[in-house]
Amino acid sequence: KGSKLIGCGSATPKLSISNEYLSKFVDTSDEWISVRTGIRNRKILSDGETVTDLAVKSSKKALEMANLKAEEIDLVLLCTSTPDDLFGSAAQVQRELGCNRALAFDITAACSGFVLGLVTGSRFIKGGGFENVLVVGADALSRYVDWTDRGTCILFGDGAGAVILQATSDEQDCLLGFDFHSDGNGQRHLHALVRSTDKKPGDEGAVSNGDVFLPSRASVSCIQMNGKEVFRFAVRCVPETIQTALEEAGLHGPDLDWLLLHQANQRILDAVAERLQIPPERVISNLSNYGNTSAASIPLALDEAVRCGKVKPGDVLATAGFGAGLTWGSAIVRW
Ligand code: ACO
Repeated sequence: KGSKLIGCGSATPKLSISNEYLSKFVDTSDEWISVRTGIRNRKILSDGETVTDLAVKSSKKALEMANLKAEEIDLVLLCTSTPDDLFGSAAQVQRELGCNRALAFDITAACSGFVLGLVTGSRFIKGGGFENVLVVGADALSRYVDWTDRGTCILFGDGAGAVILQATSDEQDCLLGFDFHSDGNGQRHLHALVRSTDKKPGDEGAVSNGDVFLPSRASVSCIQMNGKEVFRFAVRCVPETIQTALEEAGLHGPDLDWLLLHQANQRILDAVAERLQIPPERVISNLSNYGNTSAASIPLALDEAVRCGKVKPGDVLATAGFGAGLTWGSAIVRW
Protein backbone atom coordinates (compact mmCIF):
# COMPACT_ATOMS: atom_id res chain seq x y z
CA LYS A 1 0.00 0.00 0.00
CA GLY A 2 1.10 3.53 -0.69
CA SER A 3 0.23 6.59 1.37
CA LYS A 4 -0.64 10.22 0.72
CA LEU A 5 -0.38 13.37 2.79
CA ILE A 6 -3.87 14.72 3.49
CA GLY A 7 -3.43 17.37 6.18
CA CYS A 8 -1.04 19.51 8.14
CA GLY A 9 -1.12 21.92 11.06
CA SER A 10 1.20 23.79 13.38
CA ALA A 11 1.28 25.62 16.71
CA THR A 12 3.75 27.82 18.53
CA PRO A 13 3.80 29.26 22.08
CA LYS A 14 2.48 32.72 22.93
CA LEU A 15 5.70 34.22 24.26
CA SER A 16 7.98 35.77 21.63
CA ILE A 17 11.63 36.53 22.39
CA SER A 18 13.40 38.83 19.95
CA ASN A 19 17.15 39.11 19.45
CA GLU A 20 17.04 42.55 21.09
CA TYR A 21 15.36 41.08 24.15
CA LEU A 22 17.96 38.30 24.38
CA SER A 23 20.77 40.82 24.17
CA LYS A 24 19.59 42.17 27.54
CA PHE A 25 20.53 38.83 29.14
CA VAL A 26 23.66 37.78 27.26
CA ASP A 27 26.46 39.60 25.48
CA THR A 28 25.09 39.44 21.94
CA SER A 29 23.30 41.61 19.39
CA ASP A 30 20.54 41.42 16.80
CA GLU A 31 23.17 41.99 14.13
CA TRP A 32 25.43 39.12 15.28
CA ILE A 33 22.55 36.66 15.56
CA SER A 34 20.83 37.56 12.30
CA VAL A 35 24.01 37.66 10.23
CA ARG A 36 25.35 34.32 11.59
CA THR A 37 22.06 32.42 11.75
CA GLY A 38 19.19 34.30 10.04
CA ILE A 39 17.20 34.07 13.30
CA ARG A 40 15.41 37.20 14.56
CA ASN A 41 12.79 35.79 16.88
CA ARG A 42 11.83 32.62 18.72
CA LYS A 43 8.72 31.46 20.62
CA ILE A 44 9.13 29.98 24.08
CA LEU A 45 6.80 27.98 26.34
CA SER A 46 5.44 30.00 29.28
CA ASP A 47 2.52 30.09 31.74
CA GLY A 48 2.28 26.33 32.08
CA GLU A 49 2.12 25.63 28.31
CA THR A 50 3.46 22.18 27.48
CA VAL A 51 4.85 20.27 24.52
CA THR A 52 1.69 18.15 24.63
CA ASP A 53 -0.46 21.32 24.31
CA LEU A 54 1.41 22.39 21.17
CA ALA A 55 1.30 18.89 19.71
CA VAL A 56 -2.47 18.69 20.31
CA LYS A 57 -3.14 22.14 18.80
CA SER A 58 -1.16 21.37 15.65
CA SER A 59 -2.80 17.94 15.32
CA LYS A 60 -6.31 19.39 15.58
CA LYS A 61 -5.53 21.71 12.66
CA ALA A 62 -4.16 18.80 10.63
CA LEU A 63 -7.28 16.71 11.38
CA GLU A 64 -9.47 19.61 10.29
CA MET A 65 -7.60 20.03 7.00
CA ALA A 66 -7.77 16.26 6.39
CA ASN A 67 -11.47 16.27 7.26
CA LEU A 68 -10.94 13.34 9.62
CA LYS A 69 -12.29 12.57 13.07
CA ALA A 70 -9.82 11.79 15.85
CA GLU A 71 -11.26 8.27 16.17
CA GLU A 72 -10.23 7.55 12.59
CA ILE A 73 -6.52 7.80 13.46
CA ASP A 74 -4.83 4.38 13.91
CA LEU A 75 -1.36 5.52 14.89
CA VAL A 76 0.05 8.61 16.65
CA LEU A 77 3.80 9.14 16.30
CA LEU A 78 5.13 11.96 18.46
CA CYS A 79 8.63 12.94 17.36
CA THR A 80 10.22 14.72 20.29
CA SER A 81 13.33 14.84 22.45
CA THR A 82 11.59 16.96 25.09
CA PRO A 83 8.47 15.06 26.21
CA ASP A 84 6.48 16.26 29.21
CA ASP A 85 6.82 12.79 30.70
CA LEU A 86 10.03 10.77 30.82
CA PHE A 87 8.06 7.77 29.53
CA GLY A 88 6.89 9.68 26.48
CA SER A 89 4.04 12.05 25.66
CA ALA A 90 2.48 10.39 22.60
CA ALA A 91 -0.20 8.68 24.69
CA GLN A 92 -1.16 12.02 26.28
CA VAL A 93 -1.52 13.54 22.81
CA GLN A 94 -3.68 10.55 21.85
CA ARG A 95 -5.82 11.04 24.98
CA GLU A 96 -6.24 14.80 24.51
CA LEU A 97 -7.22 14.40 20.86
CA GLY A 98 -9.56 11.47 21.52
CA CYS A 99 -7.76 9.11 19.10
CA ASN A 100 -9.27 6.23 21.06
CA ARG A 101 -8.37 3.46 18.61
CA ALA A 102 -4.79 4.58 18.01
CA LEU A 103 -1.49 3.10 19.06
CA ALA A 104 0.74 5.96 20.21
CA PHE A 105 4.46 6.14 20.85
CA ASP A 106 7.34 8.62 20.84
CA ILE A 107 10.24 8.77 18.41
CA THR A 108 13.42 10.40 19.69
CA ALA A 109 15.96 11.40 17.07
CA ALA A 110 16.53 15.09 17.88
CA CYS A 111 16.18 17.32 14.82
CA SER A 112 15.94 14.30 12.50
CA GLY A 113 12.90 13.04 14.42
CA PHE A 114 10.14 14.30 12.13
CA VAL A 115 11.60 12.93 8.89
CA LEU A 116 12.15 9.60 10.63
CA GLY A 117 8.56 9.72 11.92
CA LEU A 118 7.23 10.38 8.44
CA VAL A 119 9.05 7.36 7.03
CA THR A 120 8.02 5.21 10.05
CA GLY A 121 4.38 6.20 9.51
CA SER A 122 4.48 5.33 5.84
CA ARG A 123 6.13 1.95 6.64
CA PHE A 124 3.31 1.12 9.10
CA ILE A 125 0.79 1.86 6.36
CA LYS A 126 2.76 -0.21 3.84
CA GLY A 127 2.85 -3.14 6.29
CA GLY A 128 -0.95 -3.15 6.44
CA GLY A 129 -3.47 -2.66 9.24
CA PHE A 130 -2.99 1.12 9.50
CA GLU A 131 -5.06 3.55 7.43
CA ASN A 132 -4.55 6.98 9.00
CA VAL A 133 -1.34 7.97 10.74
CA LEU A 134 -0.74 11.22 12.61
CA VAL A 135 2.92 12.27 12.67
CA VAL A 136 3.71 15.16 15.03
CA GLY A 137 7.04 16.91 15.53
CA ALA A 138 7.02 18.86 18.81
CA ASP A 139 9.87 20.14 20.91
CA ALA A 140 10.72 22.67 23.61
CA LEU A 141 14.50 22.89 23.69
CA SER A 142 14.10 26.16 25.62
CA ARG A 143 13.69 23.93 28.70
CA TYR A 144 17.28 22.69 28.32
CA VAL A 145 19.03 25.86 27.21
CA ASP A 146 21.67 27.54 29.34
CA TRP A 147 20.41 31.12 29.12
CA THR A 148 23.89 32.40 29.99
CA ASP A 149 25.54 30.59 27.04
CA ARG A 150 25.35 32.96 24.07
CA GLY A 151 26.66 30.22 21.76
CA THR A 152 23.47 28.16 22.13
CA CYS A 153 20.66 30.17 23.76
CA ILE A 154 20.22 32.36 20.68
CA LEU A 155 19.42 29.39 18.44
CA PHE A 156 16.45 27.52 19.86
CA GLY A 157 12.71 28.00 20.02
CA ASP A 158 9.68 25.84 20.80
CA GLY A 159 6.89 24.65 18.52
CA ALA A 160 4.94 21.81 16.94
CA GLY A 161 3.84 20.69 13.49
CA ALA A 162 1.73 17.75 12.39
CA VAL A 163 0.86 15.88 9.21
CA ILE A 164 -1.56 13.08 8.45
CA LEU A 165 -0.69 10.17 6.20
CA GLN A 166 -3.50 8.11 4.70
CA ALA A 167 -3.33 4.74 2.96
CA THR A 168 -4.07 4.86 -0.76
CA SER A 169 -5.84 2.13 -2.66
CA ASP A 170 -3.29 2.26 -5.48
CA GLU A 171 0.50 1.91 -5.54
CA GLN A 172 1.01 5.70 -5.57
CA ASP A 173 3.15 6.74 -2.63
CA CYS A 174 3.89 10.26 -1.41
CA LEU A 175 7.23 8.93 -0.12
CA LEU A 176 9.42 8.75 -3.22
CA GLY A 177 12.75 7.98 -1.57
CA PHE A 178 14.56 8.22 1.76
CA ASP A 179 17.92 7.76 3.44
CA PHE A 180 19.03 7.81 7.13
CA HIS A 181 22.26 7.71 9.12
CA SER A 182 23.54 7.85 12.69
CA ASP A 183 27.02 8.37 14.10
CA GLY A 184 27.32 8.13 17.87
CA ASN A 185 30.96 9.24 17.60
CA GLY A 186 29.65 12.76 17.04
CA GLN A 187 27.72 12.90 20.32
CA ARG A 188 30.49 15.00 21.83
CA HIS A 189 29.60 17.84 19.45
CA LEU A 190 25.97 18.18 20.59
CA HIS A 191 24.31 16.74 23.67
CA ALA A 192 22.22 17.32 26.80
CA LEU A 193 23.46 14.54 29.07
CA VAL A 194 21.46 12.72 31.72
CA ARG A 195 23.59 12.67 34.86
CA SER A 196 23.27 10.85 38.13
CA THR A 197 23.41 13.19 41.09
CA ASP A 198 25.54 10.94 43.32
CA LYS A 199 25.12 11.60 47.01
CA LYS A 200 27.44 10.80 49.88
CA PRO A 201 26.28 9.66 53.31
CA GLY A 202 24.94 12.62 55.21
CA ASP A 203 24.16 14.68 52.07
CA GLU A 204 20.73 16.22 51.98
CA GLY A 205 18.37 13.81 50.21
CA ALA A 206 20.72 10.81 50.53
CA VAL A 207 18.72 7.69 51.32
CA SER A 208 20.71 5.03 53.11
CA ASN A 209 20.31 2.04 55.35
CA GLY A 210 23.60 1.40 57.07
CA ASP A 211 26.20 0.91 54.30
CA VAL A 212 23.68 0.52 51.50
CA PHE A 213 22.68 3.54 49.44
CA LEU A 214 19.65 3.66 47.22
CA PRO A 215 20.34 4.67 43.62
CA SER A 216 20.79 8.36 43.03
CA ARG A 217 18.43 10.52 41.03
CA ALA A 218 19.03 11.77 37.51
CA SER A 219 19.10 15.29 36.14
CA VAL A 220 19.59 16.60 32.62
CA SER A 221 22.37 19.03 31.86
CA CYS A 222 21.87 21.98 29.50
CA ILE A 223 22.51 21.70 25.78
CA GLN A 224 26.25 21.68 25.03
CA MET A 225 27.27 22.28 21.44
CA ASN A 226 30.34 22.76 19.31
CA GLY A 227 28.65 25.00 16.76
CA LYS A 228 31.43 24.91 14.20
CA GLU A 229 31.57 21.09 14.14
CA VAL A 230 27.77 20.80 13.87
CA PHE A 231 27.80 23.35 11.06
CA ARG A 232 30.50 21.40 9.15
CA PHE A 233 28.67 18.11 9.70
CA ALA A 234 25.39 19.53 8.36
CA VAL A 235 26.89 21.12 5.27
CA ARG A 236 28.78 17.90 4.43
CA CYS A 237 26.16 15.24 5.26
CA VAL A 238 22.84 16.84 4.29
CA PRO A 239 23.56 17.21 0.54
CA GLU A 240 24.85 13.61 0.51
CA THR A 241 21.75 12.14 2.14
CA ILE A 242 19.43 14.15 -0.13
CA GLN A 243 21.41 13.00 -3.16
CA THR A 244 20.98 9.36 -2.08
CA ALA A 245 17.23 9.79 -1.51
CA LEU A 246 16.89 11.58 -4.87
CA GLU A 247 18.61 8.67 -6.62
CA GLU A 248 16.12 6.25 -5.04
CA ALA A 249 13.32 8.51 -6.27
CA GLY A 250 14.87 8.68 -9.75
CA LEU A 251 15.10 12.48 -9.50
CA HIS A 252 17.75 15.22 -9.57
CA GLY A 253 18.07 18.42 -7.53
CA PRO A 254 16.65 20.66 -10.27
CA ASP A 255 13.53 18.39 -10.46
CA LEU A 256 12.52 19.44 -6.95
CA ASP A 257 9.83 22.03 -6.37
CA TRP A 258 11.02 22.75 -2.83
CA LEU A 259 13.93 22.18 -0.49
CA LEU A 260 12.64 21.95 3.09
CA LEU A 261 15.47 21.39 5.55
CA HIS A 262 15.48 21.33 9.31
CA GLN A 263 15.46 25.05 10.14
CA ALA A 264 18.74 25.35 12.05
CA ASN A 265 20.64 28.16 10.38
CA GLN A 266 20.05 30.14 7.17
CA ARG A 267 23.70 29.68 6.21
CA ILE A 268 23.26 25.88 6.34
CA LEU A 269 20.12 26.15 4.19
CA ASP A 270 21.95 28.31 1.65
CA ALA A 271 25.04 26.08 1.52
CA VAL A 272 23.01 22.88 1.02
CA ALA A 273 20.87 24.52 -1.68
CA GLU A 274 23.97 25.68 -3.52
CA ARG A 275 25.53 22.19 -3.45
CA LEU A 276 22.31 20.68 -4.83
CA GLN A 277 21.94 23.48 -7.40
CA ILE A 278 18.55 24.48 -6.07
CA PRO A 279 17.79 28.18 -6.56
CA PRO A 280 17.15 30.26 -3.39
CA GLU A 281 13.51 30.91 -4.34
CA ARG A 282 12.81 27.18 -3.97
CA VAL A 283 14.20 27.00 -0.45
CA ILE A 284 11.55 27.14 2.28
CA SER A 285 12.70 29.11 5.31
CA ASN A 286 10.82 30.47 8.31
CA LEU A 287 13.60 30.29 10.89
CA SER A 288 13.80 34.05 11.24
CA ASN A 289 10.49 33.89 13.15
CA TYR A 290 10.95 30.72 15.19
CA GLY A 291 14.64 29.78 15.45
CA ASN A 292 15.55 26.10 15.61
CA THR A 293 12.49 24.21 16.86
CA SER A 294 14.16 20.79 16.53
CA ALA A 295 11.71 18.04 15.44
CA ALA A 296 8.98 20.65 14.91
CA SER A 297 10.82 22.77 12.38
CA ILE A 298 10.04 20.87 9.17
CA PRO A 299 6.28 20.34 9.72
CA LEU A 300 5.96 23.91 11.04
CA ALA A 301 7.53 25.34 7.89
CA LEU A 302 5.56 22.92 5.70
CA ASP A 303 2.27 23.95 7.27
CA GLU A 304 2.98 27.65 6.73
CA ALA A 305 4.04 27.03 3.13
CA VAL A 306 0.93 24.95 2.38
CA ARG A 307 -1.48 27.39 4.02
CA CYS A 308 -0.08 30.41 2.18
CA GLY A 309 -0.39 28.54 -1.13
CA LYS A 310 3.35 28.25 -1.76
CA VAL A 311 3.40 24.45 -1.69
CA LYS A 312 0.65 23.10 -3.94
CA PRO A 313 -0.83 19.61 -4.38
CA GLY A 314 1.55 17.47 -6.43
CA ASP A 315 4.67 19.49 -5.52
CA VAL A 316 7.77 17.42 -4.74
CA LEU A 317 9.85 18.41 -1.71
CA ALA A 318 13.20 17.22 -0.41
CA THR A 319 13.07 17.24 3.38
CA ALA A 320 16.10 16.59 5.55
CA GLY A 321 16.73 16.52 9.29
CA PHE A 322 20.09 16.62 11.07
CA GLY A 323 21.25 17.05 14.61
CA ALA A 324 22.10 15.45 17.90
CA GLY A 325 23.05 11.80 18.00
CA LEU A 326 24.45 12.56 15.56
CA THR A 327 21.53 11.64 13.32
CA TRP A 328 20.67 12.79 9.83
CA GLY A 329 18.43 11.74 6.99
CA SER A 330 16.15 12.82 4.21
CA ALA A 331 12.87 11.98 2.53
CA ILE A 332 11.62 13.02 -0.88
CA VAL A 333 7.87 13.53 -0.58
CA ARG A 334 4.99 14.57 -2.79
CA TRP A 335 2.48 16.91 -1.14
N1 ACO B 1 26.78 36.87 20.10
C1 ACO B 1 27.97 37.47 19.92
N2 ACO B 1 29.12 36.79 19.79
C2 ACO B 1 29.05 35.45 19.87
C3 ACO B 1 27.85 34.77 20.07
C4 ACO B 1 26.68 35.52 20.19
N3 ACO B 1 25.47 34.97 20.37
N4 ACO B 1 28.10 33.43 20.08
C5 ACO B 1 29.42 33.29 19.90
N5 ACO B 1 30.00 34.51 19.77
C6 ACO B 1 31.41 34.83 19.57
C7 ACO B 1 32.32 33.72 20.05
O1 ACO B 1 32.63 33.86 21.42
C8 ACO B 1 33.52 33.94 19.17
O2 ACO B 1 34.28 35.01 19.68
P1 ACO B 1 35.90 34.99 19.61
O3 ACO B 1 36.21 34.97 18.14
O4 ACO B 1 36.26 36.23 20.32
O5 ACO B 1 36.30 33.72 20.30
C9 ACO B 1 32.93 34.42 17.84
O6 ACO B 1 31.62 34.93 18.17
C10 ACO B 1 32.79 33.32 16.82
O7 ACO B 1 32.12 32.22 17.43
P2 ACO B 1 31.86 30.90 16.68
O8 ACO B 1 31.22 29.89 17.61
O9 ACO B 1 33.10 30.49 15.98
O10 ACO B 1 30.78 31.40 15.61
P3 ACO B 1 30.22 30.68 14.34
O11 ACO B 1 30.45 31.49 13.14
O12 ACO B 1 30.62 29.22 14.29
O13 ACO B 1 28.64 30.71 14.61
C11 ACO B 1 26.85 29.31 15.31
C12 ACO B 1 28.10 30.05 15.73
C13 ACO B 1 25.81 30.30 14.86
C14 ACO B 1 26.33 28.54 16.53
C15 ACO B 1 27.18 28.34 14.15
O14 ACO B 1 28.35 27.61 14.45
C16 ACO B 1 26.06 27.36 13.87
O15 ACO B 1 24.97 27.74 13.55
N6 ACO B 1 26.33 26.05 13.94
C17 ACO B 1 25.32 25.05 13.71
C18 ACO B 1 24.54 24.86 14.95
C19 ACO B 1 23.28 24.08 14.77
O16 ACO B 1 22.65 24.14 13.75
N7 ACO B 1 22.92 23.35 15.83
C20 ACO B 1 21.69 22.69 15.92
C21 ACO B 1 21.69 21.31 15.37
S1 ACO B 1 20.11 20.64 15.51
C22 ACO B 1 19.87 19.79 16.97
O17 ACO B 1 19.99 18.60 17.02
C23 ACO B 1 19.50 20.49 18.21
